[in-house]
Amino acid sequence: MKLVLLGPPGAGKGTLATLIKDELGIMHISTGDMLREEMKSGSDLGNEVKQYVESGALVPDEVVIKIIENKLTSDEQVAKGFMLDGFPRTEAQAEELDKILEKIGKSIDYSFYMDASLEVVLQRLTGRRICRDCGAIFHMTNMPPKEAGKCDSCGGEIYQRPDDNEETIKKRMDVYGENTAPVVEYYAGQGKLKKVNADQSTDELFDEMMANVNADKKANQD
Ligand code: AP5
Repeated sequence: MKLVLLGPPGAGKGTLATLIKDELGIMHISTGDMLREEMKSGSDLGNEVKQYVESGALVPDEVVIKIIENKLTSDEQVAKGFMLDGFPRTEAQAEELDKILEKIGKSIDYSFYMDASLEVVLQRLTGRRICRDCGAIFHMTNMPPKEAGKCDSCGGEIYQRPDDNEETIKKRMDVYGENTAPVVEYYAGQGKLKKVNADQSTDELFDEMMANVNADKKANQD
C-alpha cells in the first residue's frame, strides 16, 4: 500500500501514521522528521534547512525532492509499502513524486486528506511535546506522558518543537493554505483523494481511516 497523508499542521499526520504503519506493516516516511534529523546531526544539509524549518517556511522543493527520491530509490523496505507524511507539500513536489514512482514502477494508491479546523490544530500544536530520542508524540492535555518530561516508550527527554509557538504556527498555517491546499486538488483530480474528519479523537480517526483502507482492499479483490 502506498499512501500520502495530507493535512494542515497539527491535523495528526504523525500520530496517525505511527498507528497505521504498525497496523499495515508499511514504512512511515516523514520529511519533517528527516529534516529535523539532519538538523540534529549538524550536517551541511541540516544547517542549510534550519532557518526554513524553524521559521515555518517551506524548504526549497529541489532539496526535499532529492531527499525523497534517495529514500524511495534506495531503501529496500519501500517494497513493503509506505506512507508519506508531509510530502508532497507543493504541486511541483506532487508532480515530481509521480515521476519518481513511475521510474521505479509504482504509483500512489491514494491520499488521505485529514481535514481539521483551525481551533483544533491550534490547541494540538501549542500542547504538543516530542521525545528528543525516539520522536514519540505527546500532548500536555490530550496525550500526556505518564511521568512529566519523560517519554513513555524510551525514557528520553520530552521537548517542545521550536516551530510550535503561536507566531510560527500562524505562518505555517498560511504557508499550508497557499502551497499545500492545491495538492488536495491535485489528488482529487486523479480520483485518489479520501477526505477524513481529523477533528475526531485519535481512536475515531484511526477507525475511519482503517475502514477506508479495508473497503479499498475489498473493492480491489472483488
Ligand atoms: P512537519 O514536521 O511535516 O510539520 P507539519 O506538517 O507542520 O505537521 P506537524 O508535524 O506539525 O503536525 P501533524 O499533523 O504531524 O500532527 P501530530 O500528529 O504531531 O514539517 C515541519 C517543517 O519542515 C515545515 O514547516 C517545513 O519547514 C519543513 N518541511 C517538511 N516537509 C516539507 C516539504 N515536503 N517541503 C518543504 N518543506 C518541508 O499531532 C499534533 C498534536 O496533536 C500532538 O501533540 C498529538 O498528540 C495531538 N493529536 C494528534 N491527533 C490527535 C487527535 N485525533 N486527537 C487529539 N489529539 C491529537
